[in-house]
Amino acid sequence: MKLLVTGGAGFIGSNFILYWLKNHPDDQIVNFDKLTYAGNLENLESVEKNPNYKFVKGDAANPDDVQAVMEGIDIVAHFAAESHVDRSIHDPAPFIMTNVAGTQTLLDAALKNNVKRFHHISTDEVFGSLELNDTNKFNERTNYDPRSPYAASKAGSDHLVRAYYHTYGLPITITNCSNNFGPYQFPEKIIPLAITNLLEGKKVPIYGDGLYVRDWLYVEDHIRAIDMVLGQGKVGETYLVGGMTDEIPNIEVARKIVRILGKTESDIELVKDRPGHDRKYSVDWSKIKNELGWEPQHDFDTWLEKTIEWYKQNETWWKRVKDGEYQKYYEKQYSS
Ligand code: NAD
Ligand code: DAU
Repeated sequence: MKLLVTGGAGFIGSNFILYWLKNHPDDQIVNFDKLTYAGNLENLESVEKNPNYKFVKGDAANPDDVQAVMEGIDIVAHFAAESHVDRSIHDPAPFIMTNVAGTQTLLDAALKNNVKRFHHISTDEVFGSLELNDTNKFNERTNYDPRSPYAASKAGSDHLVRAYYHTYGLPITITNCSNNFGPYQFPEKIIPLAITNLLEGKKVPIYGDGLYVRDWLYVEDHIRAIDMVLGQGKVGETYLVGGMTDEIPNIEVARKIVRILGKTESDIELVKDRPGHDRKYSVDWSKIKNELGWEPQHDFDTWLEKTIEWYKQNETWWKRVKDGEYQKYYEKQYSS
């Protein structure tokens, strides 16, 4: 099998490539990535010389770039996206370009080249926000209600992927997952931001009252879910993927990290809230469990500790990533 992995130099995409080459050693992978601020080929240094791995730099929204890599591809695993909500609030345009136009460009080329499967990686954010006291969880029948430019662009991409299935018969599958954490996550997202700030002697900025809730999923559990959907998932179907956490507010996530790193509560500061901040995400993953036998295997506390250890051991990686462009973004985002 020959796989095209878009966005393979990002957090989840690079973890996916490392996992795939280990678990499916006969498959070939083409990693197609624009190398934005979030793309980092250092994540893939260990497989650079693997003859079954190839990197191609290109833009998902450029039809020539996309056509050039789509020839001979069996499976597309589409991770490429602008992925950070706060950046989408500062500037929505790149989100529409990559997440909507880029997805449509890839769908066209996949159709033209008769790919056997187009798997789209999406997010639970397309479903909007739950109230703190709501006992409901998002499921495959929940209505779309995206509330940030990022979420709206991902919702648009999901609709396009399904439209190509219904209209043109492109064999697609979709997974909508919750918040991932683990190695190689860019330190603009809250868990690596908190860890690396504390390691640098800075405070952890927590938005608003800190009582916002995310459904934490260890990245390897997410990747196993994609593997199972590619292997046994039904064409045309969507599967929701979530973690093992039980409604931990952000302030409590920060406290756990502070405790593990031997810091104090005074190392956490409440800062200005994110506009339109979704209060709670919670994912019902019973469909993928019942139909494909997937369930998360990595509990939050153990794997948070292992993730912290990874960042402690890989200081050079995140120090390089936190330089340059990221510094400017950080000052703009947290200046007030
Ligand atoms: P990321 O920001 O770490 O990586 C995105 C990658 O896409 C980068 O390597 C970047 O260079 C590449 N890219 C961006 N624009 C591109 C373009 N126009 N053409 C080609 N490549 C481009 O993102 P991530 O956290 O790894 O997320 C991967 C996917 O998973 C995204 O589609 C995201 O919406 C989805 N997702 C992420 C999470 C999460 O918690 N991180 C949760 C749910 C869904
Ligand atoms: O739910 C899946 C989504 O999870 C993915 O689709 C996105 O790509 C991914 O970025 C993530 O979105 P969030 O907005 O939930 O992740 P983030 O790490 O930015 O924020 C997590 C929570 O922490 C959220 O409630 C906002 C809060 N937060 C975030 C930052 C960056 C803070 O309190 N302070 C911060 O500095």
